[in-house]
Order: sequence, then structure tokens, then C-alpha cells
Amino acid sequence: MSTRSESAPTVLVTGGAGFIGSHTCVELLQHGYRVVVVDDHSNSSPEALLRIEKTAGRSLDAVHILDMRDARALAEVFTAHRIDAVVHFAAKKAVGESVQIPLDYYEVNVGATVSLLRVMREHGVERLVFSSSCSIYGDARPVPLDENEPARPTNPYARSKWMCEQVLADTCRAWPELSALALRYFNPVGAHPSGLLGEDPRGVPNNVMPFAMQVAVGRRELLSVFGGDYPTEDGTAVRDYIHVVDVADGHRVALEQLGVRPDGDGTSGTSGTSGASGPAGAAGAGLRVLNLGTGVGTSVLELVAAVGRACGQPIPHEIVGRREGDVTRLVADPGAVAAAWGWRTTRTLDDMCADAWRFQQANPMGYGA
Ligand SMILES: NC(=O)c1ccc[n+]([C@@H]2O[C@H](COP(=O)([O-])OP(=O)(O)OC[C@H]3O[C@@H](n4cnc5c(N)ncnc54)[C@H](O)[C@@H]3O)[C@@H](O)[C@H]2O)c1
Repeated sequence: MSTRSESAPTVLVTGGAGFIGSHTCVELLQHGYRVVVVDDHSNSSPEALLRIEKTAGRSLDAVHILDMRDARALAEVFTAHRIDAVVHFAAKKAVGESVQIPLDYYEVNVGATVSLLRVMREHGVERLVFSSSCSIYGDARPVPLDENEPARPTNPYARSKWMCEQVLADTCRAWPELSALALRYFNPVGAHPSGLLGEDPRGVPNNVMPFAMQVAVGRRELLSVFGGDYPTEDGTAVRDYIHVVDVADGHRVALEQLGVRPDGDGTSGTSGTSGASGPAGAAGAGLRVLNLGTGVGTSVLELVAAVGRACGQPIPHEIVGRREGDVTRLVADPGAVAAAWGWRTTRTLDDMCADAWRFQQANPMGYGA
């Protein structure tokens, strides 16, 4: 496999073996970045790392299997590599589970972010893209939601992401050279169009798309749709589904906006106005929060129908009670990221379903096959 030029910026991708992380690694490798992955495989397979390299046609610089909360082990990664920027995906992400084991969510999601920021500061790494979530907006809002909507998280997962944003804001205030982007993703689904990379959660999927795919491929009998009595057109919850490759592309552009680009100065791998006050959108220091969504709302039943069209068969499903922590409607106003970066999503719901189905058909048992 080919390698990048020595001067290309090196990006540390935490949680790089996971669903969004693996697609982002491919995007970065294909655009000439060097990529170092940290993951503990608590919700991913080592096979994903091989698939990243196969899909991108390029190799990762290194993979470190460690728990992000272990600041000492993490510091060794920063000593071993000259890291120019970090994309921080590693976290626990299941809303329902977070209600059952909240301390695990605060410990992993907030703890790992604190330990990462400490190590970044010690090593003078000043560019960060953070995985935030639309779940912090909570319930009962007019949609679409823009970034000025006050956060009202309704479950421990969402609260842990909201806390991380506060940690980032406070850290940026105390460390003026830090440039951080918190991207609030709406609902990433789909897979790489190659069929090599996709979503392969451990255990029973917590999200509707991977569950529907496992029903379609015959691994599970019936999809449970949580809640049929929401105040929506068909009674099921409405979400803004976004193709995972669009999300990955958004991270590449985010790094560019932070001044981290392969055609940069070649020394630090970054350019921009370190130390400037104000938002990070144009590589200035500070925290900027942006939505990543399409602006299109889709009900769960509409999604189930779209999955059925992609698979050529209806998806057996039943409507059951609401799931604790879920909300009625979450749809992005994607206007801020469009205005700041000139960026918007390009893939449709049918693309998301077709690509997810291609991956599932080629990998009926996920990466474990
Ligand atoms: N998928 C979504 O619907 C969604 C929506 C909004 C935000 N997010 C956020 O995006 C990020 C990535 O989500 P994803 O869907 O790719 O999840 P994922 O579970 O597929 O990926 C997370 C990765 O992080 C790793 N990890 C978890 N805890 C770790 C730790 N302590 N140390 C090292 N590695 C650890 C896991 O093994 C996994 O590979 C998460 O922060 C999530 O909260 C996801």
C-alpha cells in the first residue's frame, strides 16, 4: 500500500475502528492525511481497521489499542507520533443503556475527553474535532434546530455530550491557542458504497438502521419500533438521517477549516491564526459548535419503508412502547455549517439504505463473518 508524504499532517482518530471513525479514516487517508488510530475495541472489531486500509488503498500509520481514560498510555501515543490534530469519536453512545448505567457514560465520555485534553495540552496539540450529538437539544422544540437552541438533554448519554461541550468551552477559555469544533451529528446511517465498511455494533443493535438491516438479512425476526403515539404524522419519532460518508466528509472539511490540510506548510501540518479570539470556523482559536444534518425529517416508519425498498422486501416490524430517553422530533437546521464552510450533505435517504444494504448483504454477520 502507498504511504503519505512525510510532511502530510498526522491526525489522531480516537474510536477510529467504530462506525463513523472508520469511514472518517478512509476519507482522511484518501485525501492524503496520515492517520493514527486509538481504540479499545469495546464496540468495534479489529477487522474494521483492515477494511479501512483496503477501502482507502492506503495504510494507517499506527493503531494503538488502549482505553482513552488511561492518560498515561495516551501520552505515549503523543510521544510516539507528531500529532497535528485529533478527531475524538471514542465514546459510549446508546441512549437506552445510558439510562441503566449512567456512571459508565459519564466516566467514559466525559473522562476520556478530559484525559485527551490534558494530554493534548501537555504535547501542544491545538486542533480538535469533537463528536457531539443532536440529542443534547432534547425534546419539545420547533424544528429545524439551530445551534442557538438551548440544550435540554433528556438522558445521561446526551448529558455526557453536553458536559463535554462545557469542558471544551472552559478549556478553550483557559487555553487560548486551542481551536475546537464540536460537531452535533444528527442520525448517521448508511455505509461506504464499496460494501467493505459499514455499521457492525456489538450485541443487539441500539439503533433502528442496523437493527432493520439485521432483520432484512435474516439475523433477527422482528424490528421493534419504539413508540407509536408521538405527536407526529404517523405517530413514530422523526429523525434527521445523514449518510455516514457525508459525516466523514464533514470531518475532513472541519480539519481543513482548522487549518490542518495536506497541502499546508508541511512543518506542523497546520496553518491559521493561532491565538486569535473568536470561533474556530476559520482556524481561529476557541470552540465552535455546528450541526451536521440534512434538514430533512424522516419518521421511523418512513425509514422502515425505505429500507424495505432498498432490500426488495418489507421489513417485519411491530410498534412497541416508547423507549426511555427518546424524544419526538430532531431535525437539523444545517444553515450554519453551510454558511461557515459552504458545505452541505449530498446523499439521500435512498442512498443511505442502498449502501447499508450492500454492506449487510456482503457481510451478513458483520465483520465477524
Ligand atoms: N452513531 C450515531 O448515531 C451518533 C450520533 C451522534 C453522535 N455520535 C457520536 O459519534 C461518535 C462515534 O459514534 P459511532 O456511531 O461511530 O460509535 P461506535 O461505537 O461505532 O464507535 C466508537 C468507537 O470508540 C471506541 N471506544 C469506546 N470507548 C472507548 C474508550 N474508552 N477508549 C478507546 N476507545 C473507545 C469503540 O470501541 C468504538 O470503536 C461517538 O462519540 C458518538 O457519541 C454518534
